[in-house]
Amino acid sequence: MAQMRLDKFLGEMGVGTRTQIKEIARKGRVLVNGRTEKKSDRKIDPEADRIQVDGREISYAAWEYYMLNKPQGVVSATEDGLHQTVIDLLTEAKRKNLFPVGRLDIDTEGLLLITNDGDLAHRLLSPKKHVDKVYYAKVEGALPADSVRQMELGITLEDGTKTLPAKLEILGPVPLPRVQEETDAKSGASVGTEIRLTIREGRFHQVKRMFEALGCRVVFLKRLSMGTLRLDEHLLPGQYRPLTEEELEKLKSGNTE
Ligand code: URA
Repeated sequence: MAQMRLDKFLGEMGVGTRTQIKEIARKGRVLVNGRTEKKSDRKIDPEADRIQVDGREISYAAWEYYMLNKPQGVVSATEDGLHQTVIDLLTEAKRKNLFPVGRLDIDTEGLLLITNDGDLAHRLLSPKKHVDKVYYAKVEGALPADSVRQMELGITLEDGTKTLPAKLEILGPVPLPRVQEETDAKSGASVGTEIRLTIREGRFHQVKRMFEALGCRVVFLKRLSMGTLRLDEHLLPGQYRPLTEEELEKLKSGNTE
């Protein structure tokens, strides 16, 4: 691999700013191949040389790939003046140039891929690729009897655009979270429908708008998968982990099924 400056390498791996790194090196806290290196502007080979800071090995990662179970209340952005972002949740990431692949609404939970690999992101998000995205939802209001068929044919949204065919699976009745102001005191707990929906596009608020077009309202939404990548059920909302080699290989192979 091409040589690079030690301070650039440590900066990219999240050790600190250039000024901080200069100071850390000056204090003798940086080792290159087991020897103290006080000059932070020297060249190193990130793959061949062994770099340590305070005894901790700093390994090179050009690309990072994380699966996050996005919690509600967090925005799918790299920066936001108001809310916590999905990037803020990745406390152990090395790279500073990570971004979410696509967006989930602030109140949507579930699978979000976070990476700095722009090529992969582009492939997964390209409208031409029609990557399947599977969502689980709780829906309020009576679904039309032919809703599976309507979804299969594609739904005309409120702005006149027509979606690609989608696969609706009706899982059954489900108690809905009570919204105090909306609940009639005598009506008791409201019951909705649990569904799974597979769509092949990523339009703004698409799932919610598809159900609105059917006269219903999505009150809970969670993404379960994107192409070959399935949400790890061991991840609680807010938790994340690096992708496994196998998950990454499948995603990169371009096979989106
Ligand atoms: N569709 C929506 O309506 N919201 C999301 O967050 C994702 C898909």
